[in-house]
Amino acid sequence: KPTRLEDYQPPEFLIDRAELRFDLDAVETLVSAALEIRRNPAAKRGDGSLRLDGEQLELLEIALDDRALPPVEYVVDERTLVVQRVPDRFQLRTRVRIHPAANTALEGLYISGDMLCTQCEAEGFRRMTYFLDRPDVMARFAVTLVADATRYPVLLSNGNPIDQETLPGGRHLARWEDPFPKPSYLFALVAGDLARIEDSFTTASGREVALHLYMEPRNRDKCGHAMRSLKAAMRWDEEHYGREYDLDLFMIVAVSHFNMGAMENKGLNVFNAKYVLASPETATDQDFAGIASVVAHEYFHNWTGNRITCRDWFQLSLKEGFTVFRDQEFSADQGGRDVQRIADVRALRARQFPEDAGPMAHPVRPSSYIEINNFYTTTVYEKGAELVRMQARLLGPERFRAATDLYFQRHDGQAVTTEDFVRCMEDASGLDLTQFRRWYEQAGTPVLECTADWEAGQGTYRLEVRQHTDPTPGQPEKSPRHMPLALGLIGTDGRELPVQLAGEPAPIGPGTRVLELREARQVFEFVGLSERPVPSLLRGFSAPVKLRFPYSDEELTRLMAADPDGVARWNAAQQLAERVLLAMVVTPDTPPPQAFIDAFAAALGDQEADPALLAEVLALPSESYLGDQMQAVDVDGIHRAREALMVQVATALRADLLERYHALHRFEPVTDQAAASTDREPDLSPAAMGRRALKNLCLGYLMRAPDDAVLALCQRQYATAATMTDRIAGLRGLIRLRDTDQAELAEQALTDFYQRWSQDALVLDKWFAIQAQASAPGTLGRVKQLLRHANFSIGNPNRVRSLIGAFAAGNPVCFHAADGGGYRLLAEQVARLDPLNPQLASRLLHPLTQWRRHDASRQALMRAELEGLRARDGISPDLFEVLGKCLDA
Ligand code: ARG
Ligand code: ZN
Repeated sequence: KPTRLEDYQPPEFLIDRAELRFDLDAVETLVSAALEIRRNPAAKRGDGSLRLDGEQLELLEIALDDRALPPVEYVVDERTLVVQRVPDRFQLRTRVRIHPAANTALEGLYISGDMLCTQCEAEGFRRMTYFLDRPDVMARFAVTLVADATRYPVLLSNGNPIDQETLPGGRHLARWEDPFPKPSYLFALVAGDLARIEDSFTTASGREVALHLYMEPRNRDKCGHAMRSLKAAMRWDEEHYGREYDLDLFMIVAVSHFNMGAMENKGLNVFNAKYVLASPETATDQDFAGIASVVAHEYFHNWTGNRITCRDWFQLSLKEGFTVFRDQEFSADQGGRDVQRIADVRALRARQFPEDAGPMAHPVRPSSYIEINNFYTTTVYEKGAELVRMQARLLGPERFRAATDLYFQRHDGQAVTTEDFVRCMEDASGLDLTQFRRWYEQAGTPVLECTADWEAGQGTYRLEVRQHTDPTPGQPEKSPRHMPLALGLIGTDGRELPVQLAGEPAPIGPGTRVLELREARQVFEFVGLSERPVPSLLRGFSAPVKLRFPYSDEELTRLMAADPDGVARWNAAQQLAERVLLAMVVTPDTPPPQAFIDAFAAALGDQEADPALLAEVLALPSESYLGDQMQAVDVDGIHRAREALMVQVATALRADLLERYHALHRFEPVTDQAAASTDREPDLSPAAMGRRALKNLCLGYLMRAPDDAVLALCQRQYATAATMTDRIAGLRGLIRLRDTDQAELAEQALTDFYQRWSQDALVLDKWFAIQAQASAPGTLGRVKQLLRHANFSIGNPNRVRSLIGAFAAGNPVCFHAADGGGYRLLAEQVARLDPLNPQLASRLLHPLTQWRRHDASRQALMRAELEGLRARDGISPDLFEVLGKCLDA
């Protein structure tokens, strides 16, 4: 049943050209394919038969070189079509029937609202026609779409539009041709009654590219930001990687039913509407940033994914890791480098580190899978991006650029491996990355244990670094890895000191130095120092590791106040807060040390620093991150401690918080509640977003100890906000009053929010999510009610994620309720979803897979739900694989 990397064989046959015709209809679509097939000269000769992939297809006709095949010459089963004894070169024609409206898995051709659309990656194409559905088979596609002209006036596919015709019976036809050979997973079609906004882009070499963005007509005024982001991404890729777009037309279609974020189909990206549609009134600053990054991500795939694709799905990180790295760097250039990096590190720690430490741990290049959809993971994506980032750092900017130039030149038009990528890094730089390759093969997060000693007489500071990685499933032994360790040294007055290694000449000035780790234990000796420094370690988070160093509170405070590296400054604050919080978990009534409150007050009052950075520095580590730092997660203790510390901060620093709040709030336009109109346009610059982030952080603290004045302020912000960022922050504050004696304020705001936005699906998702995430005791009951709400739909993945996902993955204290009610709810919903949309069901299950991290009684409850799911008849391979890994490990 599992597919294994070591079993890879080149395809026995190749498909040079695929002519497809879709007679489109929601209930019943007919797909005709004419495939030009030939034997692959580079492959071993098999038994002479041709095996095509095909699932849920009703075969109506089959002909080889225009001869209809009799049933004795082929075999069809659930997953394949085998044609016995084929010539070395031939044309195969098939005709099949499929049922888009019955396709709830949202893979292959399906309906979203009134439109028809496709999602093929990884193996959805085989649900539309018989094919060699693997990425190393690259064909030129010519596509004819036929559909009702009124229902589906817009007909789109990859490449260039060739021709359109009106047909009898109210139907019409469109022909598309894609000049670039591509694997089937990059195929797409869309049909619907869609609005379009247009723009154009002139490439560096002077070619005009038409940019078309399609959406449901009522959303046409919400696409400006996506279009601007696209143009910024196109320019950025030219400037940073020398990559130009290669067709005359680039299209994006926003659809409301989508399993993932978006899909990079050649020339026709299909997007979850969440990553396209935005206006200041309906989308938060985070949503705006998410759109820019996903638009850029999918656009960047045109080179890293499409022009150069993956040989097989074990190589997924070849395109995803590199493309995530590219979109992260794009966002850093757009919004602010430190804050972007902090957000990326926070996400990595919140999702990838637990994955690496749990039953689903796998290398960036996995070696086996049952269902490939289970491997679109944060390890493949975000840790994969870290691997590219480390190589970029080891090479330095010039050599890294030379290496990517070489990669694009050497492999354009090919389906390649992560090994090919690393070899380009080596060939262009002369570096030896033999040991670095272990990062692709070994799962698990390395731990760096650091200690230091100071020899005052000599002015020498010695840093010892030991690395180890705990075993992961199937990998008991780990070897040391090669990685960059960026560091600086900070003096007592907060100034940077020069970093000079023994035996090396003195550096020109103070600053960051990149060391290379390769051994299990390494010692570095820094000389020429006049005082004992505080080391600022892992600057910029130079490697995806857990670093431990025995800092004193005073040293952390110093870094938190003065480290010029924003990531290290943030990280020092996180460590300090973590220390205070974990102590409070153990001894609930400990007050926070005054030094902590002072450091916090100092940061809050720092007028020099970027407010966006301060918002990160002053945010306490999340409950789940704190849980990851414990032997067994004490869900309730962590929640209690974190809330208590917030109350203490809010009480001790009420005046400072209010002052900063008001100073920042003055920048915002407000709406007149009655007229619902703003005096000014909201400012969406990174600076304005940073100000809102810090302001709303202050509001979040203040609402932990709300007196009447603070309550009024929160209500006023909710009611007069000109942006969704401010409105949702107000609502988040008010929702805290649920299950208190001021509950009616929360209910009023929720009702108001619903009435304002019940017509806007993406905003309504926020309404569901914010309720599912509330830590109020009644939340589980409310989630059950919301599952029966008229606006809940199990068929819409965004809605499912915003209710069930937000509850299970975003509300630790309610999901882990000691009676197991949260677990039961998740298991029931996963069971309900699995037959409809297994990919989504398998993803939603994740919080339960971490069962071993909890106390014995919760373990038993979680495990029972997992066993219950496994005992069900006919569970999907997706679920089967995840359950097996987390129960049998
Ligand atoms: N390639 C897409 C992206 O990262 C994601 C496709 C996800 N498909 C899947 N079957 N999980 O941009
Ligand atoms: Zn991607």
